[in-house]
Amino acid sequence: MKKRATVYDCSVIILPKIKNRAGNITPIHPFKNVPFDIKRVYYLYDVPGGESRGGHGHKELQQLIVAASGSFDVLLDDGENKKVVNLNRPYFGLLMPSGIWRELLNFSSGSICLVMASMLYSEDDYIREYEDYKQYVQGTLTL
Ligand code: TYD
Repeated sequence: MKKRATVYDCSVIILPKIKNRAGNITPIHPFKNVPFDIKRVYYLYDVPGGESRGGHGHKELQQLIVAASGSFDVLLDDGENKKVVNLNRPYFGLLMPSGIWRELLNFSSGSICLVMASMLYSEDDYIREYEDYKQYVQGTLTL
């Protein structure tokens, strides 16, 4: 059986930044800047200031989360430990292995949450209820 990831396996990485007087570029390459192939990209925007989203877990999905603009907090929870990560630079990325519960909190107004995902969208991969997540990590529920 695969070892279950904990919040301590989630890390903030510093992404490359190509500097220019007229603005900077941050490229993200699969297998180079993230340890997976990028199958999907999505972004959250027009989130009202102070709003929260994304209270769910994923069974297999790995993600890199970037505050492409503005800032927000990511609450990470592995069923035992919790950790809050503040993302506030477009060249920081939160690398999340599979199996972690996460919530996105305290969006600054106008912020953009950019997500690089290892899988195509699949509702079957979501664990939407925290109680189900707790049971899932305890191995008592196969969702
Ligand atoms: P969801 O991941 O539940 O966002 P949050 O937890 O932040 O509210 O997605 C919200 C809705 O968008 C949900 O109905 C599924 C849909 N969705 C897609 O169709 N494709 C995607 O890639 C994503 C991320 C969401």
